[in-house]
Amino acid sequence: MAELEGLEFGKSDFVLLDEVTMEQFMENLKLRFEKGRIYTYIGEVVVSVNPYREMDIYGKDTIDAYRGRELYENPPHLYAVSDAAYKAMKRRAKDTCIVISGESGAGKTEASKYIMQYIAAITNPSQRAEVESVKNVLLKSNCVLEAFGNAKTNRNDNSSRFGKYMDINFNFNGDPTGGHINNYLLEKSRVVQQQEGERNFHSFYQLLRGGSEEMLASFHLQKDPALYVYTREGAAATTSNNDRVSHKAVMSALEVIGFSAEEISSVYQILATILLLGNIQFETDGESVRIEGLDAVNHISELTLTDPDSVSKSLLYRTVATGGGDVIEKGHSEQDACFGRDAFAKALYERLFGWIVSRINSIIEVKDYNPVLHGKNTVIGVLDIYGFEIFDNNSFEQFCINYCNEKLQQLFIELILRQEQGEYQREGITWQHIDYFNNQIIVDLVEQQHKGIISILDEACLTVGKVTDTVCLDSMDSKLAQHPHYTSRKLSPTDKSMDFQKHFRIRHYAGDVTYSVEGFLDKNKDLLFQDFKRLMFNSANPVLKEMWPDGQLSITEVTKRPQTAATLFKNSIVALVDKLACKEPYYVRCIKPNEMKSPVLFDDARCQHQVAYLGLLENVMVRRAGFAYRQPYARFLQRYKMTCEYTWPNHLMDSDRDAVEAIITQHGFQDDVAYGHTKLFVRTPRSLFTLEQERAALIPILVLFLQKVWRGALARLRCRRMRAIYAIMGCYKRYKVKAHFWEVERSFANVRTMGDYGKSVKWPTPPAALSQFHSITVMLHRRWWARQIVKNIPPSDMLEVRAKVAALTALNGERKDWGVGRAWERDYLANVRDCPQTSSTFIRASKDLKNRDGYSQVVFSGFCRKMNRFNKSSDRALLVTDKYVYKLEPKKEYKVLKRLPLDAFTGVSVTSGVDQMVALHTSSQDDVLMCLQRGQLCPNQDRVGELVGALVDHFTRIRKGPLPVKVCPSALQLHMRGKPKSVGVETKPGQTMADFKKSRDGFILLVPAN
Ligand SMILES: Nc1ncnc2c1ncn2[C@@H]1O[C@H](COP(=O)(O)OP(=O)(O)O)[C@@H](O)[C@H]1O
Ligand SMILES: [Mg+2]
Repeated sequence: MAELEGLEFGKSDFVLLDEVTMEQFMENLKLRFEKGRIYTYIGEVVVSVNPYREMDIYGKDTIDAYRGRELYENPPHLYAVSDAAYKAMKRRAKDTCIVISGESGAGKTEASKYIMQYIAAITNPSQRAEVESVKNVLLKSNCVLEAFGNAKTNRNDNSSRFGKYMDINFNFNGDPTGGHINNYLLEKSRVVQQQEGERNFHSFYQLLRGGSEEMLASFHLQKDPALYVYTREGAAATTSNNDRVSHKAVMSALEVIGFSAEEISSVYQILATILLLGNIQFETDGESVRIEGLDAVNHISELTLTDPDSVSKSLLYRTVATGGGDVIEKGHSEQDACFGRDAFAKALYERLFGWIVSRINSIIEVKDYNPVLHGKNTVIGVLDIYGFEIFDNNSFEQFCINYCNEKLQQLFIELILRQEQGEYQREGITWQHIDYFNNQIIVDLVEQQHKGIISILDEACLTVGKVTDTVCLDSMDSKLAQHPHYTSRKLSPTDKSMDFQKHFRIRHYAGDVTYSVEGFLDKNKDLLFQDFKRLMFNSANPVLKEMWPDGQLSITEVTKRPQTAATLFKNSIVALVDKLACKEPYYVRCIKPNEMKSPVLFDDARCQHQVAYLGLLENVMVRRAGFAYRQPYARFLQRYKMTCEYTWPNHLMDSDRDAVEAIITQHGFQDDVAYGHTKLFVRTPRSLFTLEQERAALIPILVLFLQKVWRGALARLRCRRMRAIYAIMGCYKRYKVKAHFWEVERSFANVRTMGDYGKSVKWPTPPAALSQFHSITVMLHRRWWARQIVKNIPPSDMLEVRAKVAALTALNGERKDWGVGRAWERDYLANVRDCPQTSSTFIRASKDLKNRDGYSQVVFSGFCRKMNRFNKSSDRALLVTDKYVYKLEPKKEYKVLKRLPLDAFTGVSVTSGVDQMVALHTSSQDDVLMCLQRGQLCPNQDRVGELVGALVDHFTRIRKGPLPVKVCPSALQLHMRGKPKSVGVETKPGQTMADFKKSRDGFILLVPAN
């Protein structure tokens, strides 16, 4: 109930009337109309009064104000019901439909356009291109359909002469994905004839007034509707339509929708053909019939890409199949020819219209829709169908149209009045029954099998022989004489408003309509000679050919009687009602305030009449007594259980009904609801809105809660995975370590028995974690291995081994040759193999020395060339013992020339070369410089390494002190009597043995070349 307008505008919902009487209803309706409030609610039904003026209530601001709002939050508007229908569809995945009803000129088509615009404006916020194009085609299709399906009537300058039901398909997102248009009974008789003051369809005038010069010339047309029989009547009619502007708009709309250039030109060629056809006249000399002037025929054949002879032939003859299966050509009478021509023109237009609709449908149909992938596809249908009509002369079309309105009223009664009351009864809600007029009886009058008017018409059409309209009227009179809603002059002879043999009257729910039976049978039969169908099917224009698939049949095949126009229409309306009945309906009830198209005139009687026949008062009564909203307990609970502590997340009560009661009581809505057997009924939408609002506020919290739980679940899952990964990694690492151990164990298991104690065994590559362990084990093995080797050395060799080890360490790889490969004999002077002549002498001398000086061990002895302090070199013998170092004179029986205690020596210097020079450094800086000489044993081998090794070993092992060894890559440095000297090495050709020579800063050792 809209409560936002001031009281000066009357009641915005008729439900709020103080008393539900016709007077109060009309007073309110009039007040609102005069105040420019054209919309008023009856609950969710919108009552709309045609303002006949531009209203500033359809702009973007208004759309924004209504978007997503509840019905009663804003003043009544079409947008509010559109939004309600859209919301119902989106929230509850319900198919909905908006049924717009009202008589001709009441504003149905305008309303349907505003509804479409609103839906287009509020959908597709992300501006997806494919959705935009669907919306665009849906909106543009209006313009095209109006051009071809609307005409000026005496009621309405832009009267829809066809019924339109448009389904808009939505995806789960609520964005339009496509649509489908159903069209109903185009009033095609208008193509060839119009009532006084009316026009043919807009499209003809648009072509003639708006078409370019070249276009019209190519169609052999002139720019004047008065020149054409079919448009002559309406040529002078003043209308609010600007045909020229509209023509442009339609052309561009066709293009935007997706019609190809060929298709567009075919459309206009067909229109031109119809205009030219209308001007064809026949003449007769009493026997045969001819066409007056053959130009038109040629033009028609040119426009339809058919053979001109065939065109004339189909206009003048018809092919009939004789009983024997032969085919003969039968010439038309002049009257038949005219009838044939008009029928052809009507059929051309009807098929053109049908083709345009189907072409639009093929463009906007939902393609590649997979409900599994895309979710439920929901639909909003918008029905804008011709309203109830009463003209001065009402014919077959009005009969059909008014029947259709009866059906829709029946649907309204069904859904709003009967079902509603039925439901209260079923649910055991206390309810006072409200009477309303049920028009089922009129529906039956028209459509009942065998007895109804349509059946009688069909029967008359089936009867062979001359059955005229009047015979048919007689048949109706006799069969329907008792029907309270049917009468005719024959049945009420005093009623002079009807003619004998011409009129019958139906008392429709919306008023009495007198129909003229003239032409009923022809229109119902809707006869079109097969020759025209074949002519069109054989056209070289593929668009035309497509419109006439039934022209393919040969004359002998077309014996079956087609269904009559009335039956076809009835079937399509029944299908439409079925389609609407399964959707959630929203109603817009349009009222026409006056017959003058005046924005200020409120014709009380006309309006009251409409209010009465639309059943609006009953609607208010039912609504007032009723409940706006109902839902099964389980669904209600599901939707609102979060708004109550007793029901969230699950209730512990005996039934869902009790749980729903808990929600209602908590919110204090006890007085606004009723509890049915299976459903909860809510009287005012406001209560529901409060619940909706609360729900909307809670949803984010629930979403957060769900997100929290889900994120936690995800994190735990991830954590478990990580742990598993680490467990696997740990196992694998342990395995790698163990595998390495096993491999080492396997490789080295037998090294004890191997000849090389495993020196040749390849170490397996260790995992990174074991690199330190690896180097330790490698070292361990080396040590063990060395121990095994050393263990096997006989004690007598130990001294030599030790000396070699000491030399190895001391020389540190810097001296090329250090004699490691040979046996180290140490005491060469005493060695008979080395010094065969002198050894015995030396042995004697050394014995004396030993006795005298008390040394216990000879560390080294050998000949050498020595530099003395007078810079003279001479051959001497060197004896190193564990106590002293002796310089001996070999020529004088090894007389001691000099004796130095071993302690006096502080270091040794040698060169890195192969020379045998050695400098023994002393603490008194009076170093000993010499060049070792070789004896017989090893004439070419090095003795420097042995001397160094023996000295270093002795110092480190026995004296427990270091003896630094310096290996000089170039000149050797030493001191003599405290003075620094440098000793280089030079090769000298012709030198037989190494000898020193004085140099500028010391000495040079000259060595023999080679
Ligand atoms: N909401 C409206 N605002 C302004 N004019 C309107 C409105 N509704 C209808 N009309 C006027 O009334 C005319 C007839 O309306 P229309 O919708 O064609 O009637 P119907 O389809 O019911 O026969 C329109 O051409 C327009 O001039
Ligand atoms: Mg209309």
